[in-house]
Amino acid sequence: MIGISREVTTSQVSKLRGPIVFLLSSPRSGSTLLRVMLAGHPSLFCPPELNLLPYVTMGERSLALGTCQAIQCVDQGCDARDGLLRALMELKGINADAAGPQLDDLAHRNRPVAEVYEMLQQLAAPRTVVDKSPVNAATIETLRRAEQLFRNPLYIHLIRHPYAVIESLVRQNVDVANAPQPEDLAEKYWSVTNSNILEFLKQVERERQHPIQYEALVSNSTEVMSDLCDFLRLPFDEAVLKPYEGDRMITGPRSDSLSLGDPNFIKHHEIEQKLGEVWKEIKLPNQLGSLARQLAVEFNYELPNDLSAWD
Ligand code: A3P
Repeated sequence: MIGISREVTTSQVSKLRGPIVFLLSSPRSGSTLLRVMLAGHPSLFCPPELNLLPYVTMGERSLALGTCQAIQCVDQGCDARDGLLRALMELKGINADAAGPQLDDLAHRNRPVAEVYEMLQQLAAPRTVVDKSPVNAATIETLRRAEQLFRNPLYIHLIRHPYAVIESLVRQNVDVANAPQPEDLAEKYWSVTNSNILEFLKQVERERQHPIQYEALVSNSTEVMSDLCDFLRLPFDEAVLKPYEGDRMITGPRSDSLSLGDPNFIKHHEIEQKLGEVWKEIKLPNQLGSLARQLAVEFNYELPNDLSAWD
């Protein structure tokens, strides 16, 4: 494999000119729902998790990624590389047997991830690519790469109540479920990803960032999606309100695999407003730590059933 250093690749490659949108969130924040809603817009190409931005080269990506950690995905052998595979299948109108070797070749030749983004942009044009990959918010370094690679990308920050995210991670994520203190690890995921996003967005012009609260997305979808289309400089399209209509890449690349993202998404048949309320009933075993509490205040979230309320 040809080695390409991180510094050389990110500093010497001129910025990609094509438009791109990053959908940033902690895991379990409703990002699959929003991804599929956006996939209905005729001016957007919004595939399952691409998992490209954390890596400089395709070889590095290939070595780092493997089976994804949602409980159903582990059972079904879902692979964290499948979102890109699914995207290529869709864009080229080919099956996994044809698309797989093309991606293997890019990994084998250790091509820069920037080249793959550019290929997706060209194949998807005139649609804008939306990259919804929760892993992008795991480190600030990864988020900063978006600004290094692209010219003026747009950012959606999807925020969900910490109790709902923590409860979902403990129930759904193998790593979290097997941790000595699952709720503590889940809280860390929520706090670290959201604080990384806030910190990163401080360096980005206001007009290129748009926060959305999951609870508003599910209870007031029309207004939230209409505002989001305005932000994306697109006309509103009713299709964004009908996530379960049409072909939106909600099946995996093979007949027996799940689409990368929330494995429970296909168990629902509509936007479930009641899921925006579940945080009210959740009682965590411990009160949230200071960073999570500070973020909750910043996001205007109440913290009912919080043990500190009785301190
Ligand atoms: P749970 O299944 O644990 O409730 P993400 O896609 O970021 O991983 O988020 C997953 C969460 O999105 C799900 O977690 C669920 O709460 C929410 N979700 C999935 N499909 C939905 C739908 N049709 N309507 C409303 N919320 C949905």
